Amino acid sequence: MRISVIGAGYVGLTTAACLAQIGHSVFCSESDIDKLAKLQTGVMPLFEPHLEKIIESTRKAGQLQFGSTEEAIDWGRAIFICVGTPPLANGDADLSAIEAVARAVAKRAKGHRLVIEKSTVPVQTGSQLRRHLSVHKNNGSNYDVASNPEFLREGSAVEDFLHPSRIVVGADSPAAAELLREIYEPIIHQTFQCPVHSTCLNRKEPVFLLTDTNSAELIKHASNSFLAMKISFINMVANLCEVVGADVTKVAEGMGLDGRIGSAFLSPGIGFGGFCFPKDVQAFIRIAEKSGCDFSLLREVEKINQRRIEHLVEKVRNELWVLRGKKIAVWGLAFKPDTDDVRFAPSIGLIRSLLAEGATISAYDPQATEKAKAVLPEITYSVDPYQAAQGADAVVIVTEWDEFRSVNWERLRSAVQHPLIVDGRNLFNSQEVIQKGFHYVSIGRSSAHFVREDSFDSLPKDRPGGKAPEAVLQDASVGLD
Ligand code: UDX
Repeated sequence: MRISVIGAGYVGLTTAACLAQIGHSVFCSESDIDKLAKLQTGVMPLFEPHLEKIIESTRKAGQLQFGSTEEAIDWGRAIFICVGTPPLANGDADLSAIEAVARAVAKRAKGHRLVIEKSTVPVQTGSQLRRHLSVHKNNGSNYDVASNPEFLREGSAVEDFLHPSRIVVGADSPAAAELLREIYEPIIHQTFQCPVHSTCLNRKEPVFLLTDTNSAELIKHASNSFLAMKISFINMVANLCEVVGADVTKVAEGMGLDGRIGSAFLSPGIGFGGFCFPKDVQAFIRIAEKSGCDFSLLREVEKINQRRIEHLVEKVRNELWVLRGKKIAVWGLAFKPDTDDVRFAPSIGLIRSLLAEGATISAYDPQATEKAKAVLPEITYSVDPYQAAQGADAVVIVTEWDEFRSVNWERLRSAVQHPLIVDGRNLFNSQEVIQKGFHYVSIGRSSAHFVREDSFDSLPKDRPGGKAPEAVLQDASVGLD
């Protein structure tokens, strides 16, 4: 089928590439001419695993092309709207880009079009879209409108698109529903050639959930807000664990073994960021409160998340006392691993807080350096984690990139000025790090410092469990020598 995708961001580009991959003839438009020029010459404007390979192969096969919005409107009988809906100052979703597309479609389209909102939008946007299209439509055109929210995680967007757990469609006409079922047929039955795995193991057929547009729009906001709530919940519990001396990773493990809770999204840390959770929670609260509903639960989810950065800065302060003049290495800038996206990334807020106290920052990220430079030109960017750690008084881990897990401890020990790691993502086992000669502070676990040789004598020899342990977990209040 000829399909158009308007907007070539993380969602639009993934949607266009994957629909082409499963056999459709896709035209993808982008209003940012620099980005469009890059795409038309095969240059990726963003990093997302597997996406470049799929775009290259589908372009070569003539299944995918890039151009203007006007060309896209002329091309496809189904038009996916994948433009950004960033938060306004008051937390409402900014729908101006959606409205602009609707106006352009109404003015230009000839004949029937199925207009599909894939961007994350507040509930009842579909009815607004439908009304707008019918008011502004030129003669000879008519429309169906549907909601088809995406559940793509950055870093696994291609996987999530091709192997979804569910495809949610909100359609108010049988024709629209049938057209969307036809579009997704290869994914519903998992019959496409998978570009990610040669022998695809994950061939579970997704549920095709058909409902009305309002419910489909709410499924998206409610899902994201629930996941964000799980994260704030475990971060709240982590704070208690630090005070009472429990291990939040064990608490989360124990909770997650209950099938009704599930272990996903119970990793405590510096909090959730990205272009989705923060804005979706805000938008959901705004919609509800404008409708007269009490969503104070989600306001608390937001507050807990906003406090995570200060909580981590407090840990750094506890260890270094005065931050002015101290050199701090920040490992990880992207809001999560396997992406280059720094939008609403906790790293940005953390670095700004440390700079405000007079610290000097050297940062490293495997993918996000270029995008971070645009936001934080005033810090030093390093080419590897050790260069960032050179002369550092502390290494603060913000993004749990896999490469940090295989750190060369000797090399790091000789690079730093002070052997302190403040781990905002609980990347390491406390004992391992202490044995490598570092002070190690993490989230929701007792602060562990390496033990001075003489302190063994102070331990009662008859302590249960026999000989003194190699390293004891001391109460966080015990300062450094
Ligand atoms: C999210 C939703 O997962 C996805 O379904 C939706 O379509 C878009 O928003 P994304 O924002 O790409 O996807 O990333 P996600 O993996 O959900 O992580 C969001 C944030 O939560 C990241 O900052 C991550 O570090 C944080 N997070 C995630 C935690 O702090 N703890 C966790 O256990 C999981």
